[in-house]
Order: sequence, then C-alpha cells, then structure tokens
Amino acid sequence: MSDQAATAARVGRVAGKVAVVTGGCSGIGLASARRLAAEGAIVVIGDVDDARGPEVATQVQGRYVHTDVTSADQVAALFATAARAYGSVDIAFNNAGISPPEDDSILDTDLEAWRRVQEVNLTSVYLCCKAALPYMIEQRRGSIINTASFVAVMGAATSQISYSASKGGVLSMSRELGVQFARQGVRVNALCPGPVNTPLLQELFASDPERAARRLVHVPVGRFAEPEEIANAVLFLASDEASFITASTFLVDGGISAAYVTPL
Ligand SMILES: NC(=O)c1ccc[n+]([C@@H]2O[C@H](COP(=O)([O-])OP(=O)(O)OC[C@H]3O[C@@H](n4cnc5c(N)ncnc54)[C@H](O)[C@@H]3O)[C@@H](O)[C@H]2O)c1
Repeated sequence: MSDQAATAARVGRVAGKVAVVTGGCSGIGLASARRLAAEGAIVVIGDVDDARGPEVATQVQGRYVHTDVTSADQVAALFATAARAYGSVDIAFNNAGISPPEDDSILDTDLEAWRRVQEVNLTSVYLCCKAALPYMIEQRRGSIINTASFVAVMGAATSQISYSASKGGVLSMSRELGVQFARQGVRVNALCPGPVNTPLLQELFASDPERAARRLVHVPVGRFAEPEEIANAVLFLASDEASFITASTFLVDGGISAAYVTPL
C-alpha cells in the first residue's frame, strides 16, 4: 500500500490526518504520538533522540525524522517530509522543550543558560509554526498545538526564569497566530499542562520528598498528571471536535491555576 493510500485507510477521531509531533520520543510527546496514531493519524516525529526515534516510529506506524528544533533548516525539512510523504500537514504539535538545572533563579542563571532555553523552548515554536503555516493556509485547514505550561500564567518562588519566560512567549505567540489565521481555517492553541509525572520529575522528587510535597499542596486534584491525560487534550485540540477553539490558553492543570486554598 502506498503512503497516501495508508493515510486514507485509517479510522478514528483524527483519521487520515497527518500529524507532526516534536519531542515525540518521550513524555508528553510520546503519549500524544501514540494517542494520535491510535485515533487514525499518520504521525511524523521530529526529535534528536536517534536511539529511540526509529523504534517509536515503528510503534506508531509512522516516521522519525532527526530534527533539532532550534535549526530552521531541519524544522523546514521535517514539515516538508510529512507533506511530501503523506500529502498534507494537518496537525502540528510543537512540543519539544527542556528544563535544565542551570536555569534557576535570575540571580544564578547566566546568559548562556538563558539563551539555550529560549532557543529550544521558544525559537523552536516560532520555527515550527513558520514552517507549518504555509501548508495549512494552502489547505485552508490545520490545527497547531504549542506546548506552553501552567507557569506561563502563574509565578513560582522556585524559579526557572528562562523556562517561565519562554512559556509566556509560547502562550502569547500562539494567541496571536490563532487570531491572525482564524479565517484561513487554521487553529492555534497553547496547551498549558500542570506538572506531569515524567521520569525527570519522578527522579527529582524521589531524592527529595519535601520538594514534591511543596508542589503537590497546590494541586486541587492532589496528584501530578499522567502524560496520557495531557495526550487526551492534544487529541481533542487536534481533532475537528475542537473546531471552534482557537487562540486559547488551554489549561490541563488539575485546577492549580484556579486555586487559593486546596483540600486537605
Ligand atoms: N513534564 C512536565 O511537568 C511539564 C509541564 C508543563 C509543560 N511541559 C512541557 O511539555 C513539553 C514536553 O515535556 P516532557 O515532560 O514530555 O519532556 P521530556 O524530556 O520527557 O521529552 C522532551 C522531548 O524533547 C526532545 N528534545 C529536547 N531537545 C530537543 C531539540 N533541540 N530538538 C528536538 N527535540 C528535542 C527530547 O529528546 C525528548 O524526546 C516541554 O515543552 C515541556 O516544557 C512539561
């Protein structure tokens, strides 16, 4: 069966749609790639993890394209590969991001650490949107989902200054693009997850339970999210069920951003 015939044969809530997922080799991106594929999308993963990429692509019956999201050429090649192989770019889940320990209080974060986080978390989203939009505008349809964070709408005394600023940038860029391209059939939303139970978070908090408790007390639901719960929101925003949702701050945060006093 040809690639384009394979696209047409799929069934589900995003059947036959072509989805590009950055950071699809781990965490939220991986769960979303799996969920989108299970609902009939053709998934093209852009990531730098060449060890896991091909295996993940096989799992989701899609493709892996080595892509450093800070490179304009590599990002353009990622979206061109999806369009050429499968005939369209319907969904762009611009999700790759980092949260390194060198990014801390503004008093301790040097310019190099600041810039690295801005490049991977914010410039990357600019590059991915810039690459995806021409395909979507021409098709007169498309859903762009950019991963921001709850820290884009709340302040933390446990600062990661460049990370928070980058996510604020992702949020306002997504809002602006959602407004600008609304009448051309392209929706753009900022997904704002609360803290998610990823290996990174588990390791950090296993070694320091007090650190986990300090954060958990603010979550009305009383736990962190599972990546699959974030993937459900990605699927919804990607699908035509979200046809009237654009330029939104789409919080999936267990109620954190609404809470003053949480249940005991
Ligand atoms: N985990 C959380 O608690 C949480 C909360 C809110 C928002 N987020 C955001 O969600 C997104 C995904 O986070 P996660 O927890 O799944 O992270 P993760 O570390 O599990 O996965 C990130 C993926 O991005 C890839 N990546 C890193 N740098 C890249 C680059 N330059 N080019 C291409 N790919 C690159 C990694 O290889 C990895 O596969 C990030 O934008 C993160 O900021 C995470």
